Amino acid sequence: QADVFTYDPGFTSTASCDSAITYIDGEAGLLLHRGYPIGDLAEKSHFLEVCYLLLYGELPTAAQMEDFEGRITKHTMVHEQMLKFFSGFRRDAHPMAIMVGVVGAMSAFYHDSTDISDPWQREVATIRLIAKMPTIAAMAYKYTIGQPFVYPRNDLDYASNFLRMCFSVPAEEYEVNPILARAMDRIFMLHADHEQNASTSTVRLASSSGANPFACIAAGIACLWGPAHGGANQACLEMLREIGSVDRIPEFIARAKDKNDPFRLMGFGHRVYKNFDPRATVMKQSADEVLELLGIENNPTLQVAKELEKQALEDPYFTEKKLFPNVDFYSGIILEAMGFPTSMFTPIFALSRTVGWISQWKEMIEDPAMKIGRPRQLYTGATERPYVDIENRG
Ligand code: SDX
Repeated sequence: QADVFTYDPGFTSTASCDSAITYIDGEAGLLLHRGYPIGDLAEKSHFLEVCYLLLYGELPTAAQMEDFEGRITKHTMVHEQMLKFFSGFRRDAHPMAIMVGVVGAMSAFYHDSTDISDPWQREVATIRLIAKMPTIAAMAYKYTIGQPFVYPRNDLDYASNFLRMCFSVPAEEYEVNPILARAMDRIFMLHADHEQNASTSTVRLASSSGANPFACIAAGIACLWGPAHGGANQACLEMLREIGSVDRIPEFIARAKDKNDPFRLMGFGHRVYKNFDPRATVMKQSADEVLELLGIENNPTLQVAKELEKQALEDPYFTEKKLFPNVDFYSGIILEAMGFPTSMFTPIFALSRTVGWISQWKEMIEDPAMKIGRPRQLYTGATERPYVDIENRG
């Protein structure tokens, strides 16, 4: 059977199993981006600097940062024809459905950045995707709430631009609170990349066929949408709301432990982390900071989340199975406090993870050993047998 488990060399080349971008130690609860701990980056860096680090391997000099930020800023608008694209969706479409569609069709608007054999086109596609995702996510939000699109502004930083595009209306300018902008930027950083998670593996596999980067990122968005993956932040907040009060927590913990009940604690557990997810630690601190700033530190959802975490981590079921809060456990509380509906939580995750997807795409495409991914499987079906005419069956 050994042959069946030997992945096609093309897929297990350095392009697929080896990567120099992100390192995770699940037992130690360690996450490094190009060697820098996520906690240091979340405290001292900012999202576009982390984008530069993930893409090019080193922290930028001041001149490099200014050039990179200038190129991103100049690409934040989308082709005006794209506005018509949105009108094909029902107003009650999930913003993730809109993002999958709009991003997947970007090659129809940006013909000059689809040929992946051309380094210049690869770089332009990279800049366009990072620059335009906040605009597309904000447009998807505005479309679903029946408000007019808000264009990006070049005098605002990345996170402030996104908040303004979401919350400004023609009748009233949205004044960006710098503490909320910093919290938004931190959420972008915490979701930027995470090694070979399901959606990143999807992007790598799609890209290995030579498909254009926009279509491959759309494949990643589609995979991220699932509640076991990026959809968990929406599912987690909806779970916390359903629990509603701390006295109902034991009921839900019992359900999560019941093998006959498909219910799982959303925002808990991880395929790799068997210790605290370091991103959850930062997110929890940020939740306290944002809710205190907004004067809602007694937010019932936050109280339920903290008590649920406490009770679960005192329960042998969770500690023995090494189930800890993950990045999705607190993020929704912050996003809800900022004014986002739960339907926008995963689009914000997708917006952030675009740089991780595109960095891993870039690393793989630039690896001469890369071939089309072709995993194998262990066949468990019928052995070879002759065809039987229908009159002789049954
Ligand atoms: C993300 O891969 C990544 O890096 C993803 C991500 C990224 O940045 O890209 O980190 C983002 O997707 C975070 C995960 C978000 N998902 C959720 O919060 C959904 C709830 N969590 C689960 O569905 C679950 O924990 C998974 C899907 C994340 C992992 O599932 P596994 O692989 O089954 O977890 P496991 O092997 O560690 O489970 C061990 C045991 C199992 O029970 P037994 O078969 O041993 O009896 O723990 C149970 C699981 O059933 N279990 C849970 C649980 N998670 C696992 N029981 C109750 N509640 C949970 N949340």
